[in-house]
Amino acid sequence: MSATHATAALRSATIAHLGAQAPHFVIDWVEECVSTNTALMENTPADDGRVHVLAAERQSAGRGRRGRQWQSWPDGSLTFSSVWHFARGTPAPAGLSLVAGLAVAQALERFGVVGLQLKWPNDVLVNGEKLVGILVELSTGHARGLAAVIGIGINLRLPPDVRIEAQTGVTDLARALDGDVPSRPALLAAILAELERLCATYASGGFPALKDAWEQRNAFAELPVRISGDHTALEGICAGVDDDGALLLRTDTGMQRILAGDVSLRPLGGEAP
Ligand code: BTN
Repeated sequence: MSATHATAALRSATIAHLGAQAPHFVIDWVEECVSTNTALMENTPADDGRVHVLAAERQSAGRGRRGRQWQSWPDGSLTFSSVWHFARGTPAPAGLSLVAGLAVAQALERFGVVGLQLKWPNDVLVNGEKLVGILVELSTGHARGLAAVIGIGINLRLPPDVRIEAQTGVTDLARALDGDVPSRPALLAAILAELERLCATYASGGFPALKDAWEQRNAFAELPVRISGDHTALEGICAGVDDDGALLLRTDTGMQRILAGDVSLRPLGGEAP
């Protein structure tokens, strides 16, 4: 990992945007690393009361959920991870994944993005297309409790001829904001501030304290969906989420709690794409 004049300037600008909240964070911004999540999972900073953040211009092996690859472009993406420490006994970590998506959506709404929705567990969509991917990984064995590495990738300006492997329907912030994309330091600072606010709510009240806000943005509320797991597929109506952040699927055989899988819309009377 390496820092340059350019990344030092991005770091300083992020700190300036954080303002009074800057002392709560330790920001690193590097030219390149394998994956910001991998770096922080392999070398998780101890709990010193601050949130450690690593942003990278380039990831040589960016990772997505369920073992997928994550593609990003210098200047065309914002890719970063941050480490959040939680005391022992913090409620079910599954909900944290949803909290991260909600924080990003709320931060982007303040920049004027409209039509934002959340696809369980934590994709952020605009008009049904994916704008942000989030990968939450838990790092255990810490003296005071649990550490969560929250990795976020935002498409700012997709290259015109881009083909994203295994994904249809991706979009970027330039399209969502008619070309008026905020600077990466401004975006990063806004998302960190929102994550800090929502993680504090989550630590004290658990996911139930944020459930309504998540449900209001649920892309598939009361729609027919298919859940694809590693070996199985389930179909039903998306009935929202429960207090742990599990997806509720109303099926012919009753309500099922879904803890892992990919959700896709199941067109009525047809096959899912
Ligand atoms: C997904 O939608 O599958 C999750 C994508 C998460 C991508 C981000 S980019 C920053 C961080 N580092 C990674 O390797 N992945 C996450």
